[in-house]
Amino acid sequence: MINEMQNDSLNEITWEDGAQIVQLFALRLSFTSSLETIQSLLPFVSEDKKERILKFRLQEDAHRTLFGDLLIRKTLIDQIHLTNNQIQFTENEFGKPHLKGHENIHFNIAHSGEWVFCALAKKPVGVDVEVIKPRNMDVAKRFFSEEELEHLFSKSESDQLSLFYKIWTLKESYIKMIGKGLHCPLNTFTIDINGGPPYIKLNGERNNSVYFKTFPIDPKYQMALCAKSFNCAVTFLSIQESELITHFLSGQTDVL
Ligand SMILES: CC(C)(COP(=O)(O)OP(=O)(O)OC[C@H]1O[C@@H](n2cnc3c(N)ncnc32)[C@H](O)[C@@H]1OP(=O)(O)O)[C@@H](O)C(=O)NCCC(=O)NCCS
Repeated sequence: MINEMQNDSLNEITWEDGAQIVQLFALRLSFTSSLETIQSLLPFVSEDKKERILKFRLQEDAHRTLFGDLLIRKTLIDQIHLTNNQIQFTENEFGKPHLKGHENIHFNIAHSGEWVFCALAKKPVGVDVEVIKPRNMDVAKRFFSEEELEHLFSKSESDQLSLFYKIWTLKESYIKMIGKGLHCPLNTFTIDINGGPPYIKLNGERNNSVYFKTFPIDPKYQMALCAKSFNCAVTFLSIQESELITHFLSGQTDVL
């Protein structure tokens, strides 16, 4: 569980030269913030993001996107020592956000249900989280490779759902790491988790330059991290929603 892994301060992390360090930040949303609080947080994100947030039909979707943006902003303020108005995001042609003017800083955001994650590294990273919901396993036939399907259906029915989500989030973390999203068809590569740490097979060949890790954050969720690196040291930190709100509303952070 996350409490056993957490370290509450975002400030305790430092870059280490020579090693691929991934900093993973976790935020659990309570969805109890008032509309007034949410509205007072909007000036801290870009106009484009604000517009997107205000268009969501469901409040929970708006909260996840808003807090994902605030989480990466606080992370960049603490770790890269930028001020909020120095933080500008651009997107690649497939929509992956990147910090403008900082080619060596990479991050990725994921949110689902109550969880928001943000990964920060010096090399491309991808992160995914999904609420585990009962599903007909036929959905795997649309997205999984032959090898993954063989692995999935070799398991008893009671084990298939958790394996499905493990493979699914690992695959999503990979397509988010490379930045293509679903423009990279999910059945064109294989994630092998048949014993030992997960690895990827591209064109049938094991590729050791991509790192994967899953974390047991919550029994109702599956999450996965992917980094463009042979090996990684991952630092896992959690931040409270109230801490994030206070950070932005304390008057010390500039609005945009
Ligand atoms: C980009 C993509 C990976 C988004 O996946 P998702 O599961 O819907 O959403 P996530 O919470 O994981 O990620 C959303 C974040 O990814 C980032 N993102 C957007 N495009 C991206 C891309 N091409 N590459 C990497 N990251 C991207 C953004 O920061 C986005 O945050 P925002 O929406 O708050 O701005 C996309 O490929 C997709 O829509 N996947 C399908 C999801 C699906 O069908 N899930 C079924 C679950 S079983």
